[in-house]
Amino acid sequence: MKSIKLLFLMLLMPLMALAENVTSPNGNIVLTFSLTDNGRPTYEMSYKGRAVVKPSHLGLELAKDKHASKGMEETDLLDGFKVADVKYADFDETWKPVWGETATIRNHYNEMAVTLVQEIKKTEYQGDGASRGLALVTNERKMIIRFRVYDDGIGLRYEFPQQKELNYFLIKEERTEFAMAGDHTAWWLPGDYDTQEQETQETKLSGIRERMRHAVNWGNSSVAPFSETGVQTSLQMKTDDGLYINIHEAACLDYATMHLELVDAETKAFTTELKGSSNAYTPHPQPSACPLPKPFTFVSHLTPDATGLKGAMQTPCTTPWRTVMVSDDARDMLSSNLILNLNEPCKIEDTSWIHPTKYCGVWWEMIVGKSSWNYTDEFPSIKLDQIDWTKVKPNGRHAANNEKVKRYIDFAAKNGLDEVLVEGWNVGWEDWANMWKRDVFDFVTPYPDFDIKMLNDYAHSKGVKIMMHHETSSSTQNYERHLEKAFQLMNHYGYDAVKTGYVGDIIPRGDHHYSQSMNNHYMYVVKEAAKHHIMVNGHEAVRPTGICRTYPNMVGNESARGTEYEAFGGSRPDHTCVLPFTRLQGGPMDYTPGIFVTKLSEWSGNQSWARITLAGSLALYLTMYSPLQMAADLPEHYERFDDAFQFIRDVACDWDDSRYLEAEPADYITVARKAKGTDNWFVGGKCDENGHKSVVKLDFLDKGKKYDCTIYADAKDAHYEHNPQAYTITKRVVKKGDTLKLTEAPGGGFAISLIAK
Ligand code: NOJ
Ligand code: CA
Repeated sequence: MKSIKLLFLMLLMPLMALAENVTSPNGNIVLTFSLTDNGRPTYEMSYKGRAVVKPSHLGLELAKDKHASKGMEETDLLDGFKVADVKYADFDETWKPVWGETATIRNHYNEMAVTLVQEIKKTEYQGDGASRGLALVTNERKMIIRFRVYDDGIGLRYEFPQQKELNYFLIKEERTEFAMAGDHTAWWLPGDYDTQEQETQETKLSGIRERMRHAVNWGNSSVAPFSETGVQTSLQMKTDDGLYINIHEAACLDYATMHLELVDAETKAFTTELKGSSNAYTPHPQPSACPLPKPFTFVSHLTPDATGLKGAMQTPCTTPWRTVMVSDDARDMLSSNLILNLNEPCKIEDTSWIHPTKYCGVWWEMIVGKSSWNYTDEFPSIKLDQIDWTKVKPNGRHAANNEKVKRYIDFAAKNGLDEVLVEGWNVGWEDWANMWKRDVFDFVTPYPDFDIKMLNDYAHSKGVKIMMHHETSSSTQNYERHLEKAFQLMNHYGYDAVKTGYVGDIIPRGDHHYSQSMNNHYMYVVKEAAKHHIMVNGHEAVRPTGICRTYPNMVGNESARGTEYEAFGGSRPDHTCVLPFTRLQGGPMDYTPGIFVTKLSEWSGNQSWARITLAGSLALYLTMYSPLQMAADLPEHYERFDDAFQFIRDVACDWDDSRYLEAEPADYITVARKAKGTDNWFVGGKCDENGHKSVVKLDFLDKGKKYDCTIYADAKDAHYEHNPQAYTITKRVVKKGDTLKLTEAPGGGFAISLIAK
């Protein structure tokens, strides 16, 4: 009997030897690597014994192209691999972010780096003289797949050391698979090369295809969906048995942004084309020659550049990390630092000039259409070098004028806000959007009614800064040409932060917002800004992937559907309850919260309305973490509700500690945060259209201390549609261990300040 068992084990051994494992520090996650019979790299991942990623292939398809060092002889990095080496390591370090949700972050993982070699057979001339002739030679290409396994998920990436047989190469498609174990519920955005300003869809994986056409934001100024089952990352999912799974990427540098394309059923292939509406030149990828994986498998789909290619690589180089987060507790999705940890440490030596910022702005009234960015309505089109701006006829609706900007500066100074954003200060807004116009702005010439020196002096005399605005209109060549002068102007007048914008289709024409070349553009701007001690907040730029760890002057991004959409027809009340699970995984969002007068028709001709209660608006300052927080409504609206505005005056935007108390994607989020360098805590709860009851146990407070507690809550009859401005403010003294019971109205929330006595 014994010998039969031994024989059986011996038979199994060659198979077992092919599989390499690495587990998370707490042992809950197991990642296994193996090669298929034809040498295809494969991985799988489990959490507490349950499958998270079933066996999934890894690799890249390369383009046969004259620019690759192997030219038309180029071959794929998909199969034919052998394992040359496997190295294991562990890592445990605690680092301090320049700004963040917590004062310190632990980076603790186990690593497995698998070195693969692929044999390339080719004919080459060999020998000398008479013996010289063609011979079949075997060369090797090397690729390392590095896995990092954390307690809350994994990261994996491809690394290409410098080597003779792999030098310059062009990526046709990355083929990283994520085979899901079932038909999970997913919170997804349509995959799109140019926008992520859509509302999140909640369907089963099998429901993505049917929902796709309704999910695309066809009205966006730049839209390029590519597949009926293509979705964006970060993608949040939940399994029927209660596992939360999130797929995203970290450190997307010098590489195209990844989307995911789903094989949704045995018979349904992906790569069904969906034509973008505004970008007629969107190149549509050809179906791949690779065999279709199993149903419910996501396959990476990179954003192409104007040529249709997806990456131009030069070794040594790496891809971004592909991340899979997992937990059976939804709160762990929100408190995870996996994406930040997979980025490189801070590369800016002196970070003293980078600071958390609360700001207001000459902005909302233009967004709702009451006033204008442009100064004149005189010309159907303009050429910047042919206009004498002192002679043109003002339209009387230009918002960025001296008087108004001073009013905002006064408001900021009185209420302890750090900065005032002013949009529409510079010439060029007359025909800025959707014309694919190259020389659209110069970023240095103010309109005649914006006295740049006087206004900056005035602001500084009151302890306030003006925040710069650079709308590029997606004409990136134009922006790069003017960048140095634009930053010099900012330094000269004492601006230290810029909001950039990328509305419309990209110039160079045919390129896309999330391509490798555009990702390089955004990083160029961030790095140049750092040289000038300027903080950057990019709108319509690529969704972040934790790069703010390395370049913390990247203090914010919009890169999703922000508050502006409340003026463009509105967003569903659950929108802000899902964003922290998805968009915010890669970095903070400049969501521009704080709308108190939600029915815009009360003060403008805009019939749209914000789907949130006033107390819910306060909660967003906590649930939507960002070191950059706007008070987006008009000063006069805040003056009308000054008792509620007290919360925005008080709330911090940089934290020593954060505790997620409750969370469920698209339903509710409750978080408590400790303000940096103080003993004060703030708690926020935000819910969807169904309302929510919350019990907040104050066990995070310091023992023995007393706190002045102010609760800003929805009134009993509050409702995001019928009664959004019904709120109560109650005050009491509390201590550790006390419990607060709160009722959030439909589309509402609450905000609490706890000031240590
Ligand atoms: C879109 C941005 O998201 C918005 O905040 C800005 O006001 C406009 N573009 C104009 O730049
Ligand atoms: Ca936008």
